[in-house]
Amino acid sequence: MKIIRSPQSMAAWSERLRREGLTIGFVPTMGALHDGHRALIRAARLQCDALVVSIFVNPTQFGPTEDLAKYPRPIAADRTLCREEGVDVCFEPTADTMYPEGFQTMVTVPEIAQRWEGVARPHHFAGVATVVTKLFGIVRPHLALFGQKDYQQAMAVKRLVTDLNLGVTIDVRPTIREQDGLAMSSRNRYLSPENRQAATILYQALQAGRRAIQAGRRHASMVERIMRQTVEQEPAALIEYFALCDPASLAPLTHITGRVLLLGAIKIGTVRLLDNVVVPASHQVRRAAK
Ligand code: PAJ
Repeated sequence: MKIIRSPQSMAAWSERLRREGLTIGFVPTMGALHDGHRALIRAARLQCDALVVSIFVNPTQFGPTEDLAKYPRPIAADRTLCREEGVDVCFEPTADTMYPEGFQTMVTVPEIAQRWEGVARPHHFAGVATVVTKLFGIVRPHLALFGQKDYQQAMAVKRLVTDLNLGVTIDVRPTIREQDGLAMSSRNRYLSPENRQAATILYQALQAGRRAIQAGRRHASMVERIMRQTVEQEPAALIEYFALCDPASLAPLTHITGRVLLLGAIKIGTVRLLDNVVVPASHQVRRAAK
């Protein structure tokens, strides 16, 4: 596996492969890799000739009071995981080469960024959209993979690829979970053992919401209340938001008539946890017909 740090060398490598007619797959990450990342890397490996993983803790997507400085950076373990999974290039740029003096262009996806995570983290999606656009420009992948875990992020990336004619196929893969349902996340390692146990409440709440819909509940406010009440049983957890929305537009729903996205964010201690589930329409109809 090659380790490339300079954007110029990365671009030259990709250019050479593209000239040979080979397809390039790409998994952008911030490192601290876990089985969620591994699943993306494996799925990518099966779909392309050459595979690039980037590891870059992108400063522009962190707010001033967020965890940029203490974000975990276990680079040796990350490289081992990449080697195990047959990655060809681990691209590890520095903040100075990605954002040199004079840098000023930002990419925004305003409608998507104004909702949910965007309210809690006002500059987050512009940071994500900008770095993903830059990474696509450097790596020039044919295919890039993202996790459903960060649903809104995947939507923003799809939108910018379409809007800016980037010609990258975006493949969104299911959320990988711990046995007790907690969505895997690099930030889970911040949780104390007690808080780690409490953290399962977020997935339990989403599951309670799903069950309520499948049992025939059609008022979004009622389902939201059920999710909130589930979390309120866990004293260590603080609700940031729960939402029922249209999976395509992310607009909030008042009535459930088809496929619905349940979004939730809670805080446990200082750790912010984010998760979602999609409840398919077919499931609802089948259950309703019983
Ligand atoms: P990071 O949090 O490292 O996540 C990298 C990719 O892994 C994202 O597409 C994310 O959705 C996916 N992922 C994380 N946890 C997952 C899980 N439990 N199951 C499935 N996929 C999971 O997301 C970012 O980095 C950054 O914002 C980035 C896109 C790299 C831009 O800086």
